[in-house]
Formats: sequence, C-alpha cells, structure tokens
Amino acid sequence: MSLDLLLGLQWGDEGKGKIVDAITSDYDIIARFQGGPNAGHTIEFDGHKHVLHTIPSGIFNQGAINIIGNGVVIDPAIFLNEINGLKKFNIDLNSKLFISKRAHIILPTHKIIDATSEASKGKKKIGSTLKGIGPTYMDKTGRNGIRVGDIIDDNWQKKYNSLKEKHLSLISNFNQSVDIDLNKLEAEFFEGIKCLKSFNLIESENYLNKSIKEGKRILAEGAQGSLLDIDFGTYPFVTSSNTTSAGACSGLGVPPNKIKNIRGIFKAYTTRVGSGPFPTELFDSTGEKIREIGHEYGATTGRDRRCGWLDLVALKYTIEINGVTELNIMKSDVLSSIEKLLVCTSYTIDGKIVDFFPYDIISKDITPNYIEFKGWDMDITKMKNEKDLPGELIDYIDYIELFVGVPIKLISVGPDRTQTIYRNK
Ligand code: GDP
Ligand code: IMO
Ligand code: MG
Repeated sequence: MSLDLLLGLQWGDEGKGKIVDAITSDYDIIARFQGGPNAGHTIEFDGHKHVLHTIPSGIFNQGAINIIGNGVVIDPAIFLNEINGLKKFNIDLNSKLFISKRAHIILPTHKIIDATSEASKGKKKIGSTLKGIGPTYMDKTGRNGIRVGDIIDDNWQKKYNSLKEKHLSLISNFNQSVDIDLNKLEAEFFEGIKCLKSFNLIESENYLNKSIKEGKRILAEGAQGSLLDIDFGTYPFVTSSNTTSAGACSGLGVPPNKIKNIRGIFKAYTTRVGSGPFPTELFDSTGEKIREIGHEYGATTGRDRRCGWLDLVALKYTIEINGVTELNIMKSDVLSSIEKLLVCTSYTIDGKIVDFFPYDIISKDITPNYIEFKGWDMDITKMKNEKDLPGELIDYIDYIELFVGVPIKLISVGPDRTQTIYRNK
C-alpha cells in the first residue's frame, strides 16, 4: 500500500522518460506531479522515438493508467498536439489518461509574459523554455489561476477574459515587445480546450488514495531535475515548481508516509540547458565530444545542452534532499572512448575546501576538485549483463556508490527501452 517516485537528480534530461517507460510494466498507474511542457521526456522502442511533454511516460504500456496530477500546469494547445502525435499508436487514451481538475492551465498570455520577462532581463535571462511555466505558477500562488475543473462550466470564459486583460496590462508595463501573434495562440488554445474537455477530468487525489488502499502499484514521475527545484535548485536559474520528492505529495495529494522507493536518475556526466551556474562545465573539445555522442540537444527547445563532468557534491546533495533509496546511472555508453574521466568530489571556494552544495554558487568563484578515472574504449550499447561491462566502468560505478552511499540498481547503455541492465545488488 504505497507508491514509488522517480526523479531527476541533476539539471533535467537525465533520461526519466526512458526509465519510466522501461519499468511501467511493474506498475498499474503512472502519475506526473509537477512541471508542464517545459519537460521533454524521450522514449525509444521498436524503432520509434517519441517525446512527451505533459502526458506521463507510461502511456506506451497498454496496461497502465496515466494521470496528469494537480501539480502539473497544462498548455491545452501542446496537449492537443501530443494527443494527435499518439494517434498512430492506437492507445485507448480516453480510458488510459486521466487529468486532475486541480491542475492549472497555461494561457496564451502566460507565454507572452514569459517571453517578455525573459527579453527584459537581457544577459540575466533564466533561459526559460518560454512555455509560460513561471507566469502560470505565479498566478497559481497569486490565487488568480484557471484550473482544469473550471473549463467544465461554459462561464469560465469570463474568468479567462478577465485574466487575459490583467496579463495584457502587465505586458504593456514591460516596455518590451515580443513578436507573438496572440490571435493565433488563442485559436490553438481554444482547440486544445475542446480536446482537454473530452478527457476524464477527475479528483485525482481521491483516485490515487483509493488506488493506494486497493494495493495498486503507483509510480510518480518527476519532471525537470532537483537542481532546478524552486527551493533547492540554483535559484534564480530554476524552474517554478518543487521538482524534489516533497513535490510529489503536494502535486498528487498523496501523504509522505505512503512513499516507499525513491528512484534517482542521473547521467554518468552532467548537462544543463539554459542559463545558470555549472561548476563542472567543460568548454573544450571533450565537452563538445560528449554533446555530439550523447546527442545533447534539448528535447523541447532543440538548444545545445551544456556538458561537463559528473559532480558528486551536487549529486550527494540531491540524493539527501530527496531521500533517494536507489540510483539509476544513465548514458554511460556516451563516455565510452573518452580516455580520461574526471569526477568532482569537492569544491574550493575562497581558498577553502567545501564538501557540501552551498547556498551561493553564482557569485562565488568555484573550483571543482577532481579525481581521475581511466576510461574504457569499447562499445557497450549491446551489452545485456553487468558481467560483460568493462572493468573501468564498474570501478567508476563502485566509486559513485561508495561516495554517495546509495546503490546503483540500473545501468542504462543506450536510449532504447531494451538497452537497460538491471543489477542484482
Ligand atoms: P528526460 O527529460 O529526463 O526524460 O530526458 P530527455 O529525453 O530530455 O533526454 C535524455 C536523452 O538521452 C534522450 O534523447 C534519450 O533518448 C537519451 N537516452 C536515455 N538514456 C540513454 C542512454 O543510456 N544512452 C544514450 N546514449 N542515450 C540515452
Ligand atoms: P525535463 O523534464 C532540462 C530549464 C530551462 C531553464 C529553466 C527554467 O525534460 O528534464 P522554465 O521553462 O521552467 O521556466 O525554464 O529550467 N528546464 C529544463 N531543463 N530539462 C527540463 O525538463 C527542463 N525544464 C525546464 O532550460 O534553464
Ligand atoms: Mg528532457
């Protein structure tokens, strides 16, 4: 009678979509609990490559119910596109996808505020995905938001118009114009609303708690990564929701004492898309090599992802604040053929060694202290068993486990569902 969580432990794009899809057959329900279409979760199987933004990554497993929880923000236009993109898979979406009435809706003007706000910040911009995420959560906490449950009553358009007028007045105060066609956005938005209304809009907290009592197996799927958490991330270069494990309770309405396993996903190196501090970032040809081999380009925006070495100071921090019970290492295949690998085990700040993730990593000069590992020059993407993996990779993994004190139970060696090695530890 419990649920499990799956979270990204770095700055997002750790491979959450791949793993949720790979393990969905162990669950009855997959539930997204925060974020919105700023997320891009890639799933590869049987020659298909598919990116999901709002819909949980359990959707390709015919047996599972997928829930978009109350903590998620939904862009109806993007949602409609996602639904259309799934048509070829012949999934009975109406019986497999439920949406919380308490989830908030991203309005066209939220996207314009996002773009205007970013443009006005100049060099200090957050590097937002411009999906309207921040402004929508601002209206949620400011108690002005429109929720999925509102659209059931046709009178909701009054609320829409009044919030839109408020937004337009706010936008005019920025003295910054952005080239976005509101009429076009609104046409797509209202088409999307029709689509959203055709789904099962439910009290998902009620459904989930009932399911827990019935012994159903539930997995909560996180979006973004812990270092983008609004409280614990590299503020202000973060997203606008709690991406950490506590966010699953508020984003689904499930109590903390029902949470059992907390699966933390991390890449064998580090990436970040958008602005903000990144102590182990590489600016040389090794960084470029990792980007190229790992196809490190944003699944949502196509932007180059910044690449760097694995940062164990940051990883230990996110493991701690999430209460991670099991780790999954992703994209270890990308490091094959890199001769020498570095791993950050502490920082030097103002001449002092720091072994925890400090409050200020933005204005301080941070020098990462590294230890060195020998690489492996071998294609591991077809390997199925741990015993076939190169000894150098096992040494790398053993060191990480020892450093953070949590077992690595899964090694991902490629983007496909099947390129996954489960360990018996
Ligand atoms: P998410 O947002 O955490 O779901 O991750 P993304 O989908 O944004 O980015 C992860 C990318 O890495 C996607 O293109 C995946 O197909 C790919 N991927 C996932 N696991 C592996 C792996 O083990 N090896 C390689 N080479 N690619 C992977
Ligand atoms: P998934 O779920 C990587 C980053 C943006 C930007 C910052 C704020 O695919 O791992 P926002 O649009 O939320 O206002 O942007 O957060 N960001 C992500 N980076 N993966 C994501 O999601 C992200 N979602 C937001 O690049 O730096
Ligand atoms: Mg992603």
